[in-house]
Amino acid sequence: MVDEDRKRPHAIFFPYPLQGHVIPAVHFATKLASAGFTITFVNTHFVHHQISKSGADGRGGDDIFTASRKAGLDIRYETISDGFPLGFDRSLNHDQFWEGALHVLPAHVEEFVERKVSSKEKVSVLIADTFFVWPSTVAKKYNLLYVSFWTEPALVLTIYYHLHLLRSHGHFGSQDNRTDTIDYIPGVRAVEPTDLMSYLQPSCKDTSSICHRIIDKAFDDVKRADFIIINTVRELEEETISALHQTQPTYAIGPIFPTGFIDSPVATSMWPESNCTQWLDSKPPGSVLYVSFGSYAHASKPAIHEIARGLLQSGVNFIWVVRPDIVSSDDPDPLPVGFEQKAREEGRGLVVVWCSQNKVLSHCAVGGFLTHCGWNSILESIWCGVPLLCFPLYTDQFTNRKLTVDDWKVGINLCDGDWVIRGEEVSKKIDRLMRGETAEDLRVKIKKVKKVLEDAWAAGGSSETGFRQFVEDIEVKIN
Ligand code: UDX
Repeated sequence: MVDEDRKRPHAIFFPYPLQGHVIPAVHFATKLASAGFTITFVNTHFVHHQISKSGADGRGGDDIFTASRKAGLDIRYETISDGFPLGFDRSLNHDQFWEGALHVLPAHVEEFVERKVSSKEKVSVLIADTFFVWPSTVAKKYNLLYVSFWTEPALVLTIYYHLHLLRSHGHFGSQDNRTDTIDYIPGVRAVEPTDLMSYLQPSCKDTSSICHRIIDKAFDDVKRADFIIINTVRELEEETISALHQTQPTYAIGPIFPTGFIDSPVATSMWPESNCTQWLDSKPPGSVLYVSFGSYAHASKPAIHEIARGLLQSGVNFIWVVRPDIVSSDDPDPLPVGFEQKAREEGRGLVVVWCSQNKVLSHCAVGGFLTHCGWNSILESIWCGVPLLCFPLYTDQFTNRKLTVDDWKVGINLCDGDWVIRGEEVSKKIDRLMRGETAEDLRVKIKKVKKVLEDAWAAGGSSETGFRQFVEDIEVKIN
């Protein structure tokens, strides 16, 4: 077939409607469009509304359609309903939100895909976040290739993928789960039950929650994907990726970042970004601790108060991202009374609702990151050579902590043994992260892992090659 006769892939791309999933999806879509794909990128009305509202002051880039037009890329942008009105509090009513993702969203997706497929747009591929429960059914019905897009480490994917093994070995699903080491998952030498994702931990007794029902369906569905894309780096998770690849074509193409890392041409933030640069410019190199617990998890009020106490006691400079719903959206004042004012008056601390995290982490004044261990945050911090103080809260964050602290040794735990937080301990750990021998050791180690990430995306590196191979394989399948 001569080149002009070859079909250009046109993919409909559905990111999961949560901040930490939309961000890498936008950047992956942009990479695909740069490689010649036509992309129809579909956000929910709610995600679209949040991003547009946050970017209303002009910070943070254009929407994906406008940015792609400026860059000469073919990305079309559409929105669908998630079944709830815009004003519905998805954070406060998360069980209802998940029920909607399970029962309402699939019908909206199907109606959308049917409309696209029956138009003249020649759609050939469906790319959907692995947490969705419907992609294989929709792809089969409309004769599309199905690409499952996984935004977390391969380790987390493979554990969910082999949930049946955890059940049959008694590590999950019974009233009295085993608590010894898990050593039978293909591609995973050993993992402790306490390092499993929160839904699978021995302490999780209700295994029929809405999240469990979604997990059961989604990780059954992914087994019918034609391709799996993972936002990780082969060299960091070699055995796990090889084992997955033996069952299904799997491509590790991470880290997926915006071109240029700091200044994304596409707006992705769902909260308005505060500009921290001027404040950071006034601080000495390596003196600032960046604190953020990501976009979705909640922390208890006592934990927030102990962290606040620890921050003040440590004497370190800090920027703390305190989302309005960090404790709960019906608790608008999560911080101790007077904390923010004291930090500001002493010139030591800045509290913001949201910021450009990549910009903050890239600033030379930042010397550490107290994080909830979201996967994007870990990759971004490693990319910037900023060691991590780990405080996992929810879902994959416990498993991501194991990789960060136990395997790659680029971070330390905020709490030892139990997950009870005490201000004195927080202050001590901040000190270890930012000053002295441990800090020095962490910086040396993180430089090495950063180099692994950089090499992966350099010409001929594993992620660059994986990405090119994926594009070629898709083209072969549709032509
Ligand atoms: C959840 C999961 O835990 C995570 O592993 C998965 O990849 C996505 O969903 P989330 O709370 O969204 O995590 O955290 P994280 O993965 O770290 O993603 C947060 C994103 O928001 C990062 O890209 C970060 O740069 C960005 N962010 C965060 C900002 O731009 N500004 C902020 O103020 C805080």
